[in-house]
Amino acid sequence: MSKDVKIVTIGGGSSYTPELVEGFIKRYDSLPVRELWLVDIPEGQEKLETVGGLAKRMIKEAGLPIDVHLTLDRREALKDADFVTTQLRVGLLEARAKDERIPLKYGVIGQETNGPGGLFKGLRTIPVILDIVKDMEELCPNAWLINFTNPAGMVTEAVLRHSDWKKIIGLCNVPVGMKMGIADQLGVDPERIQIDFAGLNHMIYGLNVYLDGEIYTDQYIEKIASGDVSSGTMRNIVDLKWEPDFLKALQAIPCPYHRYYYKTSEMFEEESKAAAEEGTRAEVVQKLEKDLFELYKDEDLTIKPPQLEERGGAYYSDAACSLIDSIYNDRRDIQPVNTINNGAIASIPDDSAVEINSVITKEGPKPIAIGDLPVATRGLVQQIKSFERVAAEAAVTGNYQTALLAMTINPLVPSDIIAKEILDEMLKAHQEYLPQFQNN
Ligand code: G6P
Repeated sequence: MSKDVKIVTIGGGSSYTPELVEGFIKRYDSLPVRELWLVDIPEGQEKLETVGGLAKRMIKEAGLPIDVHLTLDRREALKDADFVTTQLRVGLLEARAKDERIPLKYGVIGQETNGPGGLFKGLRTIPVILDIVKDMEELCPNAWLINFTNPAGMVTEAVLRHSDWKKIIGLCNVPVGMKMGIADQLGVDPERIQIDFAGLNHMIYGLNVYLDGEIYTDQYIEKIASGDVSSGTMRNIVDLKWEPDFLKALQAIPCPYHRYYYKTSEMFEEESKAAAEEGTRAEVVQKLEKDLFELYKDEDLTIKPPQLEERGGAYYSDAACSLIDSIYNDRRDIQPVNTINNGAIASIPDDSAVEINSVITKEGPKPIAIGDLPVATRGLVQQIKSFERVAAEAAVTGNYQTALLAMTINPLVPSDIIAKEILDEMLKAHQEYLPQFQNN
């Protein structure tokens, strides 16, 4: 790898970009980023210029020689990149709002990455990511693709199984969010906490928690069960408490997203209420984004504004920048990432993506084998993996029956008939972004 690092961020006009820039600034000594290319589509040009302006001011304030390029020409940007990060949203927040609202009408959870919403986000996104991969094969064949685009697990699965590109790592802030949450609840420095993570994206469990290297799982579960500390969540997921006896029996710490599966009716009630009162999460985020971009326009702003922490993606830059830094410097530290299973979780196919603690080397992540998941968690994880595999196939082929199969086997969808009704309405609503389904 060349000494100076070239990073390309696709979806560079995202409101999250200042997080990433802050991460590169903080790590400049060990990760000398010389070029940062922020790429977007014509509809995102205004946002790209606003956020790009802030990125340039942040770098100038830090006094670092990082050149920021803003472009709508993805191919120009990709040439000879070392790392490509993807953080795009096909159809923007309007499409997410439809993913969240339509299922609710049928009595089904409407969520960005879970249930019917997750399926449709995958159907819209996977072909775009596979196109980016084609460009990368030609223009930067040695680069790593670091994907934050949701549904991150399904996207990683699709690239691993439907392209020849193997240098992909899917990244999510849920594990780091859980670690920070636990540290905060215990009032200790996050460095003192370790967690054995394993599962799938947005379906990851903490199998054990350690405090200063000593197992602390039972004590931690006891604390949450007794209500001494909150069970932890992200900004975008309501903090409903776990039933204490369930938690003690589970033998694993669930992630915030598990609420959609283990508390389906309560989460549905919460979502429906929120949708009627303040709007779905996408609608709330649209307002937050508007305010953030107003702040970003301020020529005197030279840091990442704290208001960005109102978004669910807090700490994601830390996760991304530490990952890139560890690959670049062959650090061999342990980080939770989405990567090819290769036997690390026995009950998941070898060629599928899992989210798991991995040793990060310059050749990429080496997942740390766990044997298998506890029996009570295994079935749900396998079912979601089957869903992701079928959904990825539907995204690639544009086959209606495959999409219906994916919708029906999702555990949040109660019947084949309802699955078909939701599928038909959503296919229509998202038609513009689903060219592969146009012949159905
Ligand atoms: C979580 C997830 C991310 C997701 C984000 C949404 O943190 O891990 O995958 O993108 O929330 O946050 P938002 O503020 O857009 O609702």
